[in-house]
Amino acid sequence: MAKPDLMERVVNLCKRRGLVFPSSEIYGGFRSTWDYGPVGVLLKRNVKDAWWRTMVQLRDDVVGLDAAILMHPRVWEASGHVQAFTDPLVDCRNCKERFRADHLPESGACPNCGAKGSFTEARRFNLMFETHVGPVENDASVGYLRPETAQGIFVNFLNVQTTSRKKPPFGIAQIGKAFRNEITPGNFIFRTREFEVMEMEYFVPPEDGPRWYEYWCQERLRWFADLGIPEDELRLRPHDPDELSHYSTGTSDIEFAYPWGWGELEGVANRTDYDLRRHSEYSGQDLSYYDQDADRRYIPHVIEPALGADRCMLAFLLAAYHEEEVRGEKRTLLRLDPRLAPVAVAVLPLSRNERLNPVAHEVADLLRPRFMIDLDDAGSIGRRYRRQDEVGTPRCVTVDFDTLDDRAVTVRDRDSMGQDRVPIDKLVQHLEEQLSA
Ligand code: GAP
Repeated sequence: MAKPDLMERVVNLCKRRGLVFPSSEIYGGFRSTWDYGPVGVLLKRNVKDAWWRTMVQLRDDVVGLDAAILMHPRVWEASGHVQAFTDPLVDCRNCKERFRADHLPESGACPNCGAKGSFTEARRFNLMFETHVGPVENDASVGYLRPETAQGIFVNFLNVQTTSRKKPPFGIAQIGKAFRNEITPGNFIFRTREFEVMEMEYFVPPEDGPRWYEYWCQERLRWFADLGIPEDELRLRPHDPDELSHYSTGTSDIEFAYPWGWGELEGVANRTDYDLRRHSEYSGQDLSYYDQDADRRYIPHVIEPALGADRCMLAFLLAAYHEEEVRGEKRTLLRLDPRLAPVAVAVLPLSRNERLNPVAHEVADLLRPRFMIDLDDAGSIGRRYRRQDEVGTPRCVTVDFDTLDDRAVTVRDRDSMGQDRVPIDKLVQHLEEQLSA
């Protein structure tokens, strides 16, 4: 399939099947934000759960945090964001559209109207959303919607370190909303002005920074591959020195082969002691760590893997989207890993029938506590299989007229379309075996 087509098809499928809707659509849409529908919210939750499981649950050196979005404005002065969290902006004098100067085509032509030589000089544009906190709107009440969750982790470094009794190397993980007034949002949920980010700050002795940086680059690459992104659609790209964020001495992007080319999926940065040092200076609180064993005090260095949940969901969707021909008809399916699939099991009575209905409900009630299920009895069975294929449901359980006699159901595999007959009293065990990682 031609790559531009792939993007269009995934966007259409997301709308059609209730994954992602344009924000405020009845008012003409809002372009830079998106809403997650009943199926999309399940997929995104599974993406976040998979990340949390790998980064927190399966490790004993990482703990979690959920810090506030609104923080003391001094945080953003200390972090450097007030001064340096900017993108270069140009205007086209001809059509008045605005662009990021570093995203312009090499031809120099305006991507909107095609005019040449029409751009203004680049000027710096701060991406943070400003707001006023409290009932009085003056300079003293200015606050910001956080552009990253990381700062909530740095300002809580001592709280978390002392209460969890962790010693470097250890990490603090957080998932939450972030806001950036992007100059050119676009490519669906790839770049939006409101998004969710999954970040982990890993605090290490200064001399160990480079080693842990390498370690996290490889760990994070492995995570995507383990969840089904083909290895040839992933690559690690170290930043050139002029690309580095204001806090970083080394960053690598984990890139994905999007339909429009290679692009950032996740960033792994060596933030050194920049943030803890700055917050020590600005707050007057000593954020150093005393290593009793070595009898020395130091400001830990930080390695940070940071990944957008929305962007990550898009990559999983693009990698999973598949079309094939089955008996002369097109079949569309999402080959999502069962750990990510929005619905794990669909329960489908063969037809809407008063004898099948109670058994279908019985099977649904049996499965519901263990799996995310969808009980669907509307339309032909073929159509219902297609609908489940399109949202990536790994198994469909069909209740048919034989079930009334043999107390068994048919379990259909999404990818192979193979079918097994399974007794209802062995169904939970059968599905757990098939769907476990
Ligand atoms: N604390 C580090 C940090 O914020 P970043 O590379 O600017 O680093 C981390 O952002 C990740 O968040 C990116 O790799 C990307 O996955 C996601 N991301 C960044 N800006 C985004 C946007 N405007 N829309 C959606 N996701 C975004």
